[in-house]
Amino acid sequence: MNQTKQIPHNLPEDHAQKLAQIEAVIAKYEAKPSNLIMVLHAAQGIYGYLPYVVQKFVADKMIMAVSEVSGVVTFYSFFSTKPKGKHTILVCMGTACYVRGGKKLVEGLQKHLNVDVADTTEDGKFTLSIARCIGACGLAPALMVDDTVFKSVNPKRLESVLSKY
Ligand code: FES
Repeated sequence: MNQTKQIPHNLPEDHAQKLAQIEAVIAKYEAKPSNLIMVLHAAQGIYGYLPYVVQKFVADKMIMAVSEVSGVVTFYSFFSTKPKGKHTILVCMGTACYVRGGKKLVEGLQKHLNVDVADTTEDGKFTLSIARCIGACGLAPALMVDDTVFKSVNPKRLESVLSKY
């Protein structure tokens, strides 16, 4: 009987190579819990996000329970268990933006894109996220799409902002 392990269809084609890169990172660290966050940062940098299969791989290589690894991944907001969209929208919810309508922008985007915060659109085009301050407080409310800052945005402008992508 053929014992070849099948890679689930939703994993990237270079899944094995990425795991090999993560394994090389782990080899540089001692397999102890205090190094886990550094390893997970590197793993997310390599893989793009941290699905269960990667969490399990890291746990096995670091001789830890996968529940410990999953606990850290879900605790810190900078770790993501889902793939990011092609473009990341960061809506500022810092004080200046919040009081000048940041919340309305988030609601407008949720409705327009049909996603929740931290989710990716079905076509994989946009991931919606929240930021604390993106340095454009004078022209709040502001948002960023990838590296571009859009200032004084109101819900009516959202469509024209998104149409650039
Ligand atoms: S609070 Fe939004 S840019 Fe600073």
